[in-house]
Amino acid sequence: MALVLVTGGAGFIGSHTVDRLLSLGLDVRILDNLQKPVHMKGKPDYVPEAAEFILGDVRDRDTMEKALKDVEYVFHLAAYQDYLPDFSTFFHVNSVSTALIYEIAVARKLPIKKIIVASSQFVNGEGIYKDKVGRFYYPKRRSNDQLERGLWDFLDDTGSKLEYIWTPETYAAPPNQYAISKYSQELMALNFGERYELPSVALRYSIVQGSRQSFYNMYSGACRIFSLAYYFDKSPTIYEDGRMKRDFVNVHDVVDANILAMNDERTNYQAFNVGGGVDYTVEEFASIVAREFGKEDIKPNITGEYRFGDTRNACSDITKLKALGWTPKRSAAESVKEYVDYLKAQTDLKDILDYAEKSMKSLNVVRKPTKSP
Ligand SMILES: NC(=O)c1ccc[n+]([C@@H]2O[C@H](COP(=O)([O-])OP(=O)(O)OC[C@H]3O[C@@H](n4cnc5c(N)ncnc54)[C@H](O)[C@@H]3O)[C@@H](O)[C@H]2O)c1
Repeated sequence: MALVLVTGGAGFIGSHTVDRLLSLGLDVRILDNLQKPVHMKGKPDYVPEAAEFILGDVRDRDTMEKALKDVEYVFHLAAYQDYLPDFSTFFHVNSVSTALIYEIAVARKLPIKKIIVASSQFVNGEGIYKDKVGRFYYPKRRSNDQLERGLWDFLDDTGSKLEYIWTPETYAAPPNQYAISKYSQELMALNFGERYELPSVALRYSIVQGSRQSFYNMYSGACRIFSLAYYFDKSPTIYEDGRMKRDFVNVHDVVDANILAMNDERTNYQAFNVGGGVDYTVEEFASIVAREFGKEDIKPNITGEYRFGDTRNACSDITKLKALGWTPKRSAAESVKEYVDYLKAQTDLKDILDYAEKSMKSLNVVRKPTKSP
């Protein structure tokens, strides 16, 4: 039976991928260092006994050599994901580990059939916009001056609001250390893969949702924050005007995409968006979470504050992967239900809420407009 290595296999997407691979009858090896704060309480119960588990760091050559032994497929999902300015860690964990996989595979002439690298929608940055006469705009970021005036949308020279369009894989404008490291992984996978005939694919996941997403991961975002707020009967905080758009993809749809990428040669040496195909405003998304709790009477608090570094809109064009037969099947409401069921099964929700609130404050990223528009 083919052996599949899943780095980060104790994590959210990794563990669901591991389950699917086992159910398909494949042998699975996990390489994971049970990184804190993702795993505050050690190895999660959901990690199956049926998978071989190597506790180790993807940056360590000896460990990676051991992990790659006799492997036919690699899912490289382990990653450092945060908002902290320890820039080098992003490249040590995300980029160096990817380089190491290819370095070892080339040096040892490993018979690997496919390497699937987790990229991110974040690579798209602020994406692409269009004005009224159809001219395209590729904004890098909103200026501090604009944000201090509370002007949230991108505007053309005449002050008219630009229209956001779904971003295709041909575009990349990584806005921060995490996105740059993810883009570097993508470039390495496609370049080294093609040059050394190691079939490779990079998947740019949109915001992924479902059970097992760490409650201690700052990255897990809106679903966790809104769910905790509604659970404790608090009004969730929404930044800017609540009208920024996002697409959310269910973790089982992501696993479907992973399996397709692993098996389908047409994906070789390419990047694909893996998104939910529906754009929601953050305010709409909060109302999906409120509905799941039956607490629609608790209205969100739209503060008019903003988070430094947030992108205004992030929605991925999934036409390319759909053309290969994949499609997102689960709705955002189903994802939220799965997450909320998982949350309700936890015994330490107060600790989780305290941790989330403290961490957000210490990051000090929330700001208030100080100038008039
Ligand atoms: N969850 C999302 O919404 C999302 C969106 C876009 C891209 N991604 C990408 O998908 C991948 C999986 O994300 P996730 O949400 O499952 O994250 P996660 O934090 O739940 O899982 C990551 C796993 O990697 C492990 N890990 C971290 N550093 C490691 C190291 N140095 N050595 C070995 N193991 C290490 C962690 O212990 C964890 O089990 C990541 O590469 C991430 O960048 C995730």
